[in-house]
Amino acid sequence: MSLALGVLVSGSGSNLQAILDRVREGSLDADIRVVIANRADALGLERAREAGIPTACVLHADFPRREDFDRELVRLLRQAGVEWVALAGFMRILTPEFLTPFAGRVVNIHPALLPACAGLHAQRQQAEHGVRLAGCTVHFVDEQMDHGPIVIQAAVPAFADDDEASLGARILDMEHRIYPQALQWIAEGRVRVNGRQVVVNGVARTFTGPHWTNPPLEPPFDR
Ligand code: GAR
Repeated sequence: MSLALGVLVSGSGSNLQAILDRVREGSLDADIRVVIANRADALGLERAREAGIPTACVLHADFPRREDFDRELVRLLRQAGVEWVALAGFMRILTPEFLTPFAGRVVNIHPALLPACAGLHAQRQQAEHGVRLAGCTVHFVDEQMDHGPIVIQAAVPAFADDDEASLGARILDMEHRIYPQALQWIAEGRVRVNGRQVVVNGVARTFTGPHWTNPPLEPPFDR
């Protein structure tokens, strides 16, 4: 069954683009009902319009309280028939006002191997710390920032001469692979949360492809 998906963005929307591309090529079984941004200049809105997806812009500055902003997001998502929500570079913390109606159906991508380097500027945090393995994480969203149960992680090497930009680009390339893969697993009904553990039914336990992810990517997401 097709995933009735809403995507929330704040910026460039390259993860949204990766999702749109996978939907268009037929490897991600999702129906993107609406893309919502909290900034009018979010390039993600332009990407959605080009793909013929309905868009909305909800400026958080227009709402005196976080809860009011969240309630408006929920209203728009429901109106669009959204069942699952993907945060794709959406830089706002969500309150129970949002998370309760979509309990267990909100996922996020974060550019680090959580629980390391949560929060802002994760790519810079990793580069400055001198980690040797950096990466990214798709996880369920709970009320704590960058905290919920983990669906998939990808590791990439970090080098002594990396900076935020060079390491960020290497991480972003993997973000674009693991996010559509995680959403497709959800669309296939293979993802179950058990406390902090996420079980993805039928995945391999060995790494055969060129990308170091766990669970391993499946075709065509491994290309
Ligand atoms: C991505 O690197 C994403 O992981 C990060 O923002 C970027 C958005 O890029 N998200 C966070 O840091 C959330 N804590 P995009 O707009 O091009 O997809």
